[in-house]
Amino acid sequence: MELNAADEQTAVVSALCAGLLGSVNESLGAPMAPAWEAAIRGVPRHVFLPGTVWTGDDLVECSRETDPEDWLRHAYADTAVVTQINDGRAVEEDGRWASCSASAPSIVFRMLDLLDVRAGHRVLEIGTGTGWNAALLAHRLGPGRVTTIEVDPALAARATASLEGAGLGARVIQGDGARGHAADGPYDRVIATCSVRTVPPAWIAQTRPGGVVLVPWDSPWFCYGLLRLTVDGYGGASGFFSPHSAFMLLRGQRTDLRIYRDVVDDDHVPVESTTRLSPGAVAGEDWSAQFAIGLQLPHVWRTWHDDPDVEGVASRLWLAGTDATSWAAVDLDGRTGDHFTVWEHGPRRLWEAVEAAYGWWREAGRPGPERFGMTVTPDGAHVPWLDTPDSPVPVLL
Ligand SMILES: C[S@@+](CC[C@H](N)C(=O)[O-])C[C@H]1O[C@@H](n2cnc3c(N)ncnc32)[C@H](O)[C@@H]1O
Repeated sequence: MELNAADEQTAVVSALCAGLLGSVNESLGAPMAPAWEAAIRGVPRHVFLPGTVWTGDDLVECSRETDPEDWLRHAYADTAVVTQINDGRAVEEDGRWASCSASAPSIVFRMLDLLDVRAGHRVLEIGTGTGWNAALLAHRLGPGRVTTIEVDPALAARATASLEGAGLGARVIQGDGARGHAADGPYDRVIATCSVRTVPPAWIAQTRPGGVVLVPWDSPWFCYGLLRLTVDGYGGASGFFSPHSAFMLLRGQRTDLRIYRDVVDDDHVPVESTTRLSPGAVAGEDWSAQFAIGLQLPHVWRTWHDDPDVEGVASRLWLAGTDATSWAAVDLDGRTGDHFTVWEHGPRRLWEAVEAAYGWWREAGRPGPERFGMTVTPDGAHVPWLDTPDSPVPVLL
């Protein structure tokens, strides 16, 4: 029997889907549920990607037209693929930042697993992006069960077309997902695929009692952790974090703070001191430390400045309050010294607060994100805790 071009294409996609399934299962450490396996095979990922995508840390452009094989390889790799840069505006090559991506498939399925959807559930997704996650959910739950909201009009239009083409009966709403979409609720599950620093009240209000709200967490210090809240039916919700994930922030919660433009003035005279705590310990490889500091200091922002053109300084860690009134800088000289120079300015001593937050985390036994939880009260307060809701985490600034 001879294969025609369409058969060959089907065979190629089927082999690619099988390969992706294998990579995701390996990353998750166990085979995914049969219903999700059917979804990954039934909803080919490449159908939801635009003709131009950007990959890797340097956001290298890849076009289906000029390099179809590479484009298809990216579509079926277990990695995030950026599908929009700079909110769709034209940019210079070195000014690119990701404003939409199709998340890495293993993260997508980890979140779907945590979401724990059941037959008959209604689901609201915030952050339609390409529409692939909504399509997977609709494949599993059937038509009329999935509503998804996308703030960006061009992305919403593209995802609507892709989802209509797939014929799965998922509904795309273009608008600000922070408001939810009460008309299709109440929902059994709400899933955000963009991160938040506070959970918008509409997501809790539009979820039935006992339902779940799953959100990637962000703090100005560090974007990390998935928060799975169970809604209590009295206007509040509570639940544990789990590790992983770095998602783009919900538009509306984005801050655009820049150290020299907004925070540091030429006439500031900072106070100089020294510390024994390395800035690398609080803003380096230890993600658990960073996550815990972010929970305790929800209004402190940080950024590294490498090679700051200061004699003897290899890197400088800058901290600033998100109100831009106080700042601090801590210098690394590139050697493994045990004293570091600190500069602080403004009404609050930010480095002192970071030392206290790090000290609390170390004394608590260096817990990872999975030991932390969060309660959102009916009046919108966010109360982090360790192990149990009656053991609050100190919030310092
Ligand atoms: C990581 S992408 C989502 C990936 C998507 N679920 C998929 O399957 O391709 C995050 C998306 O959230 C969207 N977004 C950001 N802020 C939003 C908001 N306030 N309301 C709705 N969507 C938002 C972004 O435009 C972006 O498309």
